[in-house]
Amino acid sequence: MKKNLFFASLFTLTAMTATAQVYLDPNAPIEERVKDALSRMTTHEKVQILHAQSKFTSAGVPRLGIRQLNMDDGPHGVREELEWNTWNPAQWTNDYIVAFPSLTCLASTWNTELSSAYGNAVSEEFAFRGKDIMLGPGVNIQRTPLNGRAFEYMGEDPFLAGEMVVPYIKSAQENAVACCLKHFVLNDQETDRFGINVNVSERAMNEIYLAPFRRAVEKAHVWTIMGSYNKWKGVHCCHNDELLNGILKRDWKWDGALVSDWGGAVDTYEAATGGLDIEMGTYTDGKTTESKFGYEMYHLGNPFEQLLKEGKVPMEVLDEKASRVLRTIFRTAMNPKKVIGNQCSEAHYDVCRQIGEEGIVLLKNDRNILPLNPAKYKKYSQILVVGENATRSLTKGGGSSELKTLRDISPLEELQRNYEQMIMYAQGYYSGRAMYDHVDRLDAHKQDSLKAEALEMAKGADLIIFIGGLNKNTRQDCENGDRESYDLPYGQNELISELAKIQKNIVVVTFGGNPYNMPWLKDVAGLVHCWYLGSESGKALVNVLNGTVCPSGKLPVTFAQKYEDYPYVQYGKEAYPGVDREVHYKEDIFVGYRHFSTNNVKPLFPFGYGLSYTTFAYNKPTAQKTGNNINVSVTVTNTGKVAGKETAQVYVTMPQTTTPRPVKELKAFAKTRLLEPGESETLNMTIPVDELAVYQEEERGWDIIDGTYTFNVGANVNDIKGKVEVEVK
Ligand code: GLC
Repeated sequence: MKKNLFFASLFTLTAMTATAQVYLDPNAPIEERVKDALSRMTTHEKVQILHAQSKFTSAGVPRLGIRQLNMDDGPHGVREELEWNTWNPAQWTNDYIVAFPSLTCLASTWNTELSSAYGNAVSEEFAFRGKDIMLGPGVNIQRTPLNGRAFEYMGEDPFLAGEMVVPYIKSAQENAVACCLKHFVLNDQETDRFGINVNVSERAMNEIYLAPFRRAVEKAHVWTIMGSYNKWKGVHCCHNDELLNGILKRDWKWDGALVSDWGGAVDTYEAATGGLDIEMGTYTDGKTTESKFGYEMYHLGNPFEQLLKEGKVPMEVLDEKASRVLRTIFRTAMNPKKVIGNQCSEAHYDVCRQIGEEGIVLLKNDRNILPLNPAKYKKYSQILVVGENATRSLTKGGGSSELKTLRDISPLEELQRNYEQMIMYAQGYYSGRAMYDHVDRLDAHKQDSLKAEALEMAKGADLIIFIGGLNKNTRQDCENGDRESYDLPYGQNELISELAKIQKNIVVVTFGGNPYNMPWLKDVAGLVHCWYLGSESGKALVNVLNGTVCPSGKLPVTFAQKYEDYPYVQYGKEAYPGVDREVHYKEDIFVGYRHFSTNNVKPLFPFGYGLSYTTFAYNKPTAQKTGNNINVSVTVTNTGKVAGKETAQVYVTMPQTTTPRPVKELKAFAKTRLLEPGESETLNMTIPVDELAVYQEEERGWDIIDGTYTFNVGANVNDIKGKVEVEVK
């Protein structure tokens, strides 16, 4: 008897030891680790890893030594540590980090190498802070200039957003830090974000709103995706069967874990069967209030386990979810290749500054008032800086993307460092506390006195640099609410106009994630738009203002002459912000320049527009079809006096069919290296023929129309330098 017992326990021990190697073996293929781990977990343990165990972590399996997942915001840097179970800052002293520029700024660089550098640097900070999943980037589409979170996204064009987000994701995940692409899908406004139901055509859904997400899945294999709060076809996107099980997991063959937005799961059965894998939440009861409930009360906690016990949901559904979560754990937390990373290194600050310098867009430069280089500024004896954004930290506020920075160089301090003896400053207006003070609660007398002081000081200046724009306050560039006006807030339009009457040597510098109205444009000499530049804000801006860096940024979004020119406005409130919790994207695929170009509406500044301190010439482009690709080539020459970079863009005009199509659609772009005066570079751009496919609603599929395609090569969507026609059969 004893002998049998001995051999039996020896076998079990061996079996245990033998199988124990696989899921813990860092060199074993991930799918084998997943399968082995799953086979060793109880039902309860599988359910536990499907939901939050704190504000920003989901559980592992302590008994088996399987790590939890540590997540954190956001797309521009690692959020400050919060308490385990509340939204209060944990008051740590080691969580100061680099605030990188906003993603709209990254998109404005049109520089895929910088995007790769961004993903690498920011994920090194996440890794160093012990995080496995970074809750970003975001690629919702800027269909309205009022969207409060546009600054976190990458413009109005799905091709640019997709092509610019892929390198960021790839290099972040090479460090074994998962990106969490958000917000999937149609979270294109903040107004009523928790309950709005988006009505959009199948074509617009596929060609515009799903497109950047699909590109990130197919070209960057993004490891996690965040469901959005809003509904599509009446069902919340965090557990929308058609969207998640149908399009994302079946059609796109995506193998990652779908994470809810915080509190985005609202129904147990839908959460169980609608494609949600990790339910995260705002409060311990998942949604609205702190309560004695633990996180096991989440929809994917005990309620889900109950459905399994009752046989209402098959165990395969549980295993499918748990496998996706385990796959994410083995790709990140338990990946032997996960980097240590670093925090606040000079290398990170360099990347931060370079993105800012290449994302800044020069929109106007009359009389070559810029660059303000040392030789030139000496003639100005008194330089007056006006505007709250010259000193205000713009990394604070804005919602979940808010950051706790070690370095946050303001434009004023950097200007004073560069032009020490001549800088005077007047605040000009004030906006109150970031994220809290609404514009209506501000003191009009205080505004008036700040304005009067600035106008008085302007009389003694022979150059004015106005630094304003939007900020991260409520109803500005801030989560959970949209802007209420296309105008600049806090009386800036009137202030700029009056300053320009006093001194025509005035350069306006604006920060902000969205286009805005410029009634004073004709009265100012220079205009520079910066988006948000992060920790090196002052340095990046001054390097462009003083000519150290030649501006090369180009707009990822159309600036309209007036708000009414945006395509959805003509359709009334139904088209934005919606009526009775229903919004209808009536402009269909004609978003941004697709509308302005096709309907000949002249924008203030077109998509892809940006000036330089030098000039560029384009030779006649060529295009030919080789196999399944169209190769477009153009040579760009620096014909000016200073070195600079230029981004050439290729817009395709499809063969006309009965179905209306935009007159131009961006299908390729390329940025030159820094070209010295007289230097040229030939840009070769490859467009797979598949990129020319259009979505046919009748067949519910993609189709390439036979016919003649025109490849328009230009400096922006309205400045076409040359065209080439190619037959596609
Ligand atoms: C917020 C945001 C989301 C963020 C999450 C965690 O509501 O919508 O982008 O990552 O909750 O803060």
